[in-house]
Amino acid sequence: MSDASIIESLLEKHSLHELKDYLSETLGESEGVERLRRATKQLKTMGVRALALQLARMNQVKAAMACWLSLKDSGRDTVVDRFALASMGMQFRGLAIHPDHYRPVLEEFTELARVAPKLSSVWINIAGYWLNSLEPVSVWGGQAQRAATNALSTGANPVETRYLLGVIKESRGRCGEAADDYRRVLSMEPGHAAARVRLAWLAEQSLVVGRDMSFLDHNGPAIPSSESLQVSKAEGMTQAVKIFNTYGAVIVRDLIPAADLEVLLDKYRHAVVERQKAEGVGMWPVQDVDSKIRADLEKLLDSTDVASWLEKICSYRFPAWEIQPRHDWHIQWRGPDPHEPTRIHQDCPVYINNSEFITCWFTCSNCGNGDAPGLELYLDNVSHPLHFVEQFPDAPAAVSRDFLTEYLADRSWSPRMSPGDVLLFRPNLFHRTECDRSWDSYRMSYDLRFQCGPSAPGFSEIVE
Ligand SMILES: [Fe+2]
Repeated sequence: MSDASIIESLLEKHSLHELKDYLSETLGESEGVERLRRATKQLKTMGVRALALQLARMNQVKAAMACWLSLKDSGRDTVVDRFALASMGMQFRGLAIHPDHYRPVLEEFTELARVAPKLSSVWINIAGYWLNSLEPVSVWGGQAQRAATNALSTGANPVETRYLLGVIKESRGRCGEAADDYRRVLSMEPGHAAARVRLAWLAEQSLVVGRDMSFLDHNGPAIPSSESLQVSKAEGMTQAVKIFNTYGAVIVRDLIPAADLEVLLDKYRHAVVERQKAEGVGMWPVQDVDSKIRADLEKLLDSTDVASWLEKICSYRFPAWEIQPRHDWHIQWRGPDPHEPTRIHQDCPVYINNSEFITCWFTCSNCGNGDAPGLELYLDNVSHPLHFVEQFPDAPAAVSRDFLTEYLADRSWSPRMSPGDVLLFRPNLFHRTECDRSWDSYRMSYDLRFQCGPSAPGFSEIVE
């Protein structure tokens, strides 16, 4: 049987996972992938599409995008293919906010809007592109508002599209109209934290004087005790998912064997401390400290239930989506010196409609609340990015860090964590490092990102 016919029959009967497993088992991992690459040429369109998906699952983003681009060049691509291409570009270039870095993404979505004008996600991403850019609002305000209006007129995602329209109007200085949009968002979804924060910020600046501000009272769920924001493995995923969906964060206790983390601490402490002595900062990409550390971490995580907890907790659970690691894994070494803590921030400070990643944070030593520096989280489940005046002084509709910290003060949670406890939280959750000079212990911790991808929202499966 030829490669092509084997693959064709497998594609009919099995998922692509099994195809990759089959090839890897029979030919070895690298040879299997190479054979898959060669064989899919014979299967033309279907094969290229399958390969794109497979490469995306293996986090080979550039190669996956090249496959979708070749489909586009061949003229045999579908709307779903184009959405996949543009979405991947948005996800993986989205954190680079310089327009030149991801203008091709805008071009992809703009082209897509011409062939699929009823897809709200397309318009949302066009508007989101402009909101992420640091070009003057005078350049993009009109285009962005038209895109958000088009998104709204599709009737899909009314809360999302209305909120987006409000942010764009606020960016253009139309604060009264923006406040009306935020109120409409809150009438549809009373717990919409981002709309509430923005209304409060407008009120703080006296930009909506004389209007009803009763929406500003916190109406999100009250913060429970620290104990009830944590679950043990025995208490189960259902409870963890419930906490995560309500507050945007949860700690799963004892998810990783503590002894294994102590081994990692012993193995890498020296390299990490040397790095700190040389650079005086406390956070680096994992691979910059030691090239072997990522492999050790992956091995450790593979031997635990972490991935299955991540999958259950993630809200984007289409059949073609999988949790996969992103490139930005960090290692942190923190103590009372240097004393400067990380300021309040979101891990995903840009507007991306198609991407959800989860931050997975765990420590190799006790931390928080009197031991070594820990994390302070603000449990308001904000689902959108907010730019800060202090960080991007020219960004439109940016809020002040001091204002936000004060506004969210009663949502603060500073958990005490031990090795083996895993903190999972949403990309837009506000948080910061918490430390105090009296906490004289050091902490080594890991900060990993997992994201879902790569198919388009609303499409359960890309493969024909
Ligand atoms: Fe962070």
